[in-house]
Amino acid sequence: MTQTSHILCIGAGYVGGPTMAMIAAKCPHIRVTVVDINEARIAAWNSDDLPIYEPGLDTVVKIARGRNLFFSTDTEAGIRDADIIFVSVNTPTKTFGQGAGRAADLQYWEKTARQILAHSTRNKIVVEKSTLPVRTAQAMERILNSNTAGLRFDVVSNPEFLAEGTAIKDLEDPDRILIGGHETPDGRAARKAIADIYATWVPRERIIESNLWSAELSKLTANAFLAQRISSINSISALCEATEADVDEVAYAIGTDSRIGARFLKASVGFGGSCFKKDILNLVYICRSYGLNEVADYWESVVAINDWQQARFVQTMLANMFNTVAGKRIALFGFAFKADTGDTRESAAIAVARQLIAERAHVVITDPKALDNARHDLGDQAALVEFEPDPYRAAHGAHAIAVMTEWSLYRSLDYARVLASMEQPAFVFDGRNVLDHRRLFEIGFNVFPVGKSPLRHV
Ligand code: NAD
Ligand code: UGA
Repeated sequence: MTQTSHILCIGAGYVGGPTMAMIAAKCPHIRVTVVDINEARIAAWNSDDLPIYEPGLDTVVKIARGRNLFFSTDTEAGIRDADIIFVSVNTPTKTFGQGAGRAADLQYWEKTARQILAHSTRNKIVVEKSTLPVRTAQAMERILNSNTAGLRFDVVSNPEFLAEGTAIKDLEDPDRILIGGHETPDGRAARKAIADIYATWVPRERIIESNLWSAELSKLTANAFLAQRISSINSISALCEATEADVDEVAYAIGTDSRIGARFLKASVGFGGSCFKKDILNLVYICRSYGLNEVADYWESVVAINDWQQARFVQTMLANMFNTVAGKRIALFGFAFKADTGDTRESAAIAVARQLIAERAHVVITDPKALDNARHDLGDQAALVEFEPDPYRAAHGAHAIAVMTEWSLYRSLDYARVLASMEQPAFVFDGRNVLDHRRLFEIGFNVFPVGKSPLRHV
């Protein structure tokens, strides 16, 4: 890389924004521009109120913004000036036509390819940062190489493995960086150019180079394996509840086997987030399109168990609240799909809230960062729901609390005060197993964890 090299990132979302902020902070010699079609989002990136909540993100943005990090809506100029273009646009599940509900919707992706083609005046490296079906780079290359100006575009796959809530830590100290490219002199040179950027702060031995298709497929596979672990332990949580085994004890016992490992074995109300479900469904779709139906069925079951776990959580509530929640105030503690993010995409809380609303419960949602998103997610049904930033007020007069997100603040509430303000008998359904169940039981709550025996007075 030369001192003057210029990176453009198309897509200023949860991945594009933090990833480019980190590259700019670590590489002051590289000018980094991030563009988006969403003007409000770009305005927020240029303000003190960033469009996403991510611990540590403000600090990293402040180091570089205005120095060598710029947020803009001028895609055309950005493309013209760039040596390297990262594409980090959304690739959601298709909602229409062939593959609806399964395949990735590549319309935003394809549009960027055409924009790059239209506005380029010199050779460029194009980096797939979005998560994409295996062999997407082939389509990108076909579009870009249809140019008649004799320009060369080298396409590289550099999937992102950060998790929300820990994005800055994950970017600063990643387990690995994966860069896939063609096994040709140009392909290897493009791969090296991207590797050199990361090598500014990531040890070389953690930078993995592979062929393009392996890199694309590794991203979908990594998410499928991570989600599979959660569905595996969640399936066992149901068996624990039936047998008086304790899912945390089982997870600890198996996780100490170094071949299994301890992480991602936390039973819960179900995994959420913008990627696990969409990426597994995409994998399922790809497998079916290659005629690999048994493989597709295998991975589809990971999503099926997750849907079932969410429904099972509401069933447990109903069964233990005298088979009716109609007219009862129920406080959902947390709505984000995990702690330390305001993101609610595919949060288990959405399914739980909808099922409780269908049972005519009076749902009250509290969350320190996600109330605006929660309102948006519930659409028409938001009018039937109360949104309350203060958990004490949310629980006031409630029959039950259901913990949806493991925000640490819910661990340190004064539960004697909470209990005194609730209807009796009072219930806690801990969808994250984060509260002190024994203590809650001792002060008078009926407590229903995931994958453990309930502690009940009634
Ligand atoms: P996002 O929806 O937050 O951001 C995508 C952005 O791209 C949006 O702001 C959108 O306006 C913009 N965009 C779409 N088309 C555009 C165009 N033609 N020109 C300019 N901007 C355009 O999505 P995200 O969460 O950042 O995810 C992006 C990709 O990264 C997805 O493929 C996702 O699967 C993958 N990914 C996400 C995460 C995560 O934690 N969110 C982690 C790893 C990988
Ligand atoms: C996940 C992956 O962890 C990232 O590596 C990947 O880059 C990203 O998807 C992506 O491609 O978007 P993310 O969805 O942000 O990251 O968050 P996770 O920490 O993976 O949590 C996902 C869901 O699983 C959350 O709802 C979380 O509460 C749940 N979870 C996680 C459990 O229920 N149990 C666990 O043991 C771990």
